[in-house]
Amino acid sequence: WHSRARRDEGGDAVMDGAAQPTPFACPFHGSEAGRSFDPFGPAYQADPAEALRWSRESEPVFFSEPLGYWVVSRYDDIKAIFRDPILFSPANALEKITPPSPEAVEVLARANYAMNRTLVNEDEPAHMARRRVLLDAFTPHALAAHRPMVRDLVRGRLDAIVDKGRSDLVADMLWDVPLTVALHFLGVPPDDMDKLRSFSVAHTVNTWGRPSPDQQVAVAEGVAAFWTYSGEVLARMAARVDAGEHPHGWMYDMIAKNRVMPDIVTDNYLHSMMMAIIVAAHETTALASANMFRRLLEDRAQWDAICADPALIPAAVEECLRHSGSVVAWRRVATADAQVAGVTIPAGGKILMVTASANHDPRQFDNPDALDIWRDNAADHLTFGYGAHQCMGKNLGRMEMAVMLEEVSRRLPHLRLEDQAFTYLPNISFRGPEAVWVHWNPALNPAQTAPARDFPVGAPDRKAIQRQLTVTEARPLADGVLGITLSDPSGRALPDWTPGAHLEIVLPDGEGRRYSLCGRPGGDWQIAVLREDAGRGGSRWMHENARPGATLSVRGPRNHFRLDETAPAHILIAGGIGITPILAMADRLKAAGLPYQLHYAGRFAAHMAFLDRARADHGDALHLHIAADGGRADLPALVAEAAPGTRLSACGPARLLEELDRLVAARPDLTLAFEHFTGGGDAGALGQGQPFNAVCADSGLTLEVPDGRTLLDVLRGAGLDVPSDCEEGLCGSCEIGVQSGEIEHRDRVLTAAERAAGDRIITCCSRARGRLVLSI
Ligand code: HEM
Repeated sequence: WHSRARRDEGGDAVMDGAAQPTPFACPFHGSEAGRSFDPFGPAYQADPAEALRWSRESEPVFFSEPLGYWVVSRYDDIKAIFRDPILFSPANALEKITPPSPEAVEVLARANYAMNRTLVNEDEPAHMARRRVLLDAFTPHALAAHRPMVRDLVRGRLDAIVDKGRSDLVADMLWDVPLTVALHFLGVPPDDMDKLRSFSVAHTVNTWGRPSPDQQVAVAEGVAAFWTYSGEVLARMAARVDAGEHPHGWMYDMIAKNRVMPDIVTDNYLHSMMMAIIVAAHETTALASANMFRRLLEDRAQWDAICADPALIPAAVEECLRHSGSVVAWRRVATADAQVAGVTIPAGGKILMVTASANHDPRQFDNPDALDIWRDNAADHLTFGYGAHQCMGKNLGRMEMAVMLEEVSRRLPHLRLEDQAFTYLPNISFRGPEAVWVHWNPALNPAQTAPARDFPVGAPDRKAIQRQLTVTEARPLADGVLGITLSDPSGRALPDWTPGAHLEIVLPDGEGRRYSLCGRPGGDWQIAVLREDAGRGGSRWMHENARPGATLSVRGPRNHFRLDETAPAHILIAGGIGITPILAMADRLKAAGLPYQLHYAGRFAAHMAFLDRARADHGDALHLHIAADGGRADLPALVAEAAPGTRLSACGPARLLEELDRLVAARPDLTLAFEHFTGGGDAGALGQGQPFNAVCADSGLTLEVPDGRTLLDVLRGAGLDVPSDCEEGLCGSCEIGVQSGEIEHRDRVLTAAERAAGDRIITCCSRARGRLVLSI
């Protein structure tokens, strides 16, 4: 069954059996480390992200001879592969990575094992047609209806252990809850749970493991039994549908669709899906939850922060999925010669995308190896995949993990992790400890706990992710400019940041104000606040309240104004308080030995923060333009004289940035990056305008954006995770690629040249006329 391509009812050749040989790579190409890389070796099995650090740094695509796969390790490359399911087919996603022995083949043949295409390994256009008709059960609204059941279940499991003082959380809760929820969601009767657990392990080893010849037969027997069992359960469920009943559950939905559209929801699909989904829906979540409790309990300060402020729970879940996801690698096969990071993967070449490595890529995540529950772009992780096949159940998984974390941290905040050697099932994709032993003193169990909170279903709300930091220093830096230093009251080191990054200080009214980090990366955080009495009141509040010892609620850091160190030359331009990100960039360029000019413009020297430091540290590169002294920046000359390829980075008042934008638009050999101080628009009006249609090419959805709602809001409502930050058209974090359509740009972040190209839209504020095709 496994060594030949087979056809399902749709007629496509499929590759679900044993590993088909991949087109051979040139043995002289690539490094020795790449050629000999073996994901079944101890390094990858111990820590897949760490095992690929060298690859992320120096050889992001390589051919592993022991595996016969092209391995890809960087975030952008993996995301690009996920985004193109035609060039990079998912057909091999469930293929056995280890060729089975003849005896194992025999066992499976006896059971008529015919695991075939489901959703996750189905090609287009069959896949999208199927996915579309099966999506209803996954809307945030539909999933929220399962939450009371999840909560009751978790409480029941906790009731059984709270007085015991010791538990293996995996055995007592983390396996059981996701399996029961999965069966409930699917409508499958919750019988035979132990049997299903052993079946799942066999399926994982069969698909992603390297069983020894002896183990192969036992694994094949488990898989064969799982196949037979799935068929029997399916037959019983189908009989109810055929008898006119309408029982609840996603498998019943699929059976009903099969009866009315058998070409789309095929018979073989039903049986294959029945088996695959039980694993997809529960093992992923069980392992992710085990990783989560292990990681959080290993970092007591973060665990305690969650116990003190449960609003952090959705962010903590997301960060754990990023840092220690349960799916660490996923597969594709190239359908034609394809370029990835400059390497040609030949047609037929099999690809192992190590998503755990992408999730630790410093190009995407600052301090990627640190677990940081306050990280607000954690939801960019690739643990759920991305694009057309992105996990349909991601929000169910997230919800289960959030409920488990909430209930456990509320009822057993004093829980401690025991010293233990964590063990993992050897395989290339699914990862989570087999046991997580914890202990606590039942006499100290809190008598009363706060009421449960129901977080919205979906990715975490970035606005809820706030650190409480202490002001350790506040001193004037120039007339009207207050320098503020912040540190973590628990003594924990604050994460490093990169030049261009900003913090958002949350004021008592809940509104945020963004300030660029302006000290030197590492150590405490420093910002500089210009008092603007005619402004919205934020800077005044900061000047009056940010005294040493005060506590501030802080979001970030985030960086939408990154320094591109690959540019051959840099011109940095600061107007007034815009010096804050620019000075950090100048420091970095100087340290890196890269060519740069630093232009600093202001009205009076006394108002210009960091003037002495700029002079002392950047004397040779510094050009001061102080209006009161008769100095004005000659921007046309600056741009005209810039060497080809120069990158201009500017922060300052709108007038300065608009002029630069105009000038640079006439010099396409230059690039311009800028950051505005404020949006200047009316946030409430962002969603107003003509309705238009958004066609999401990667996910196969067509959505209507009505007057009164932003594109960002509509995309999120459809379950797409779009990152965002300022939500007023300033930062660019919600940008999405546009394939066609007429954009009505309303942001203040794209340059004139980028607008003219018409290939991206800032979704929090910009709109379109008619029909817009998006790369999402
Ligand atoms: C697909 C991970 C929970 C149902 C996937 C994929 C991954 C994944 C990596 C492949 C994505 C791609 O190819 O782009 C996870 C993780 C979970 C989880 C880490 C928990 C933490 C669930 C749950 C369900 C589910 C609870 C169902 C109730 C599915 C389905 C697909 C899928 C149906 C196939 C989607 C398609 O190909 O169109 N999941 N999953 N998953 N997952 Fe999940």
